[in-house]
Amino acid sequence: MPIIRVKGLSYRYPGSSRTVLKNITLNIDEGEYVVITGPSGCGKTTLCRCFNGLIPHFYGGNLEGEIIVNGFPVKETSTSTLAQYVGMVFQEPESQLFLLSVEREVAFGLENLGLPREEIVKRVDEALKLVGISHLRDRAPHELSGGEQQKVALAACIAMQPKILVLDEPTANLDPISAVNILNLLQSLRNKLGVTIILVEHRLEAVASVADRFIVMNDGMIVSDGDPRDVLSSTNIEGLGVGVPKVIQLYKDLKRRNVIFNLVPLTPKEVKACLMEVLEFD
Ligand SMILES: Nc1ncnc2c1ncn2[C@@H]1O[C@H](COP(=O)(O)OP(=O)(O)OP(=O)(O)O)[C@@H](O)[C@H]1O
Ligand SMILES: [Mg+2]
Repeated sequence: MPIIRVKGLSYRYPGSSRTVLKNITLNIDEGEYVVITGPSGCGKTTLCRCFNGLIPHFYGGNLEGEIIVNGFPVKETSTSTLAQYVGMVFQEPESQLFLLSVEREVAFGLENLGLPREEIVKRVDEALKLVGISHLRDRAPHELSGGEQQKVALAACIAMQPKILVLDEPTANLDPISAVNILNLLQSLRNKLGVTIILVEHRLEAVASVADRFIVMNDGMIVSDGDPRDVLSSTNIEGLGVGVPKVIQLYKDLKRRNVIFNLVPLTPKEVKACLMEVLEFD
């Protein structure tokens, strides 16, 4: 049973004649780790806004088709109800953080849910620990580095115990080490908590071997969807400016020269194994 079902979704922002999502049909299973990528302006953020109901409830506009999230039809469900199931982390963490301490920030959503105090304290402790920022609990979010702020935003989401985590380019403003840190964290959250992860990301090299599925969008449509090995090696995504990992480029170059690997490699280690096999080394 998919946790997200999208059928024939088309969308226009208010006052615009441009259809930015065009007849999208998509199912996402519970516990799946899905990476969405594609050129700037293709509609990735817009699609994410449909998962937590910001579209249509906040943005308005013209929405056609059906979006069902955890059994709730998004058009008829309030954003506050959807927020209990879908957590969202944005590209700029500062835009999500506004309180005076990390602890207050992580507790905020829980207080709004009206949870008992002991439960709030327990969830805040757990979320800070999971994300590895317990030592920052009394600090002011605005004094932290971008990577730390992004972790606070993530902890605030996790504390709500959402079934689905949507992250819209959470590493875009981070240095490479903080970015890898966040991506590793997502992987361990998926493994530990079984949350469904929908990640909009350009750093495909870093996520190719951990995601279950890649979705590539272009001009409001899905142009490729499936196993990362199939999607990244498919001709559908050529010329879109999608950052195809170097190991895949090598695989394609070798294939053109009739050096055929028995699998599409996603890591240098896999390239090595494939080469050893082709060259018949032991
Ligand atoms: N609030 C808005 N009102 C009107 N048009 C919008 C709004 N937000 C986005 N758009 C338009 O919708 C289209 C898709 O934008 P969207 O932000 O979803 O793309 P994206 O794939 O997330 O791009 P990027 O990689 O740059 O983040 C673009 O043409 C954009 O200008
Ligand atoms: Mg975007």
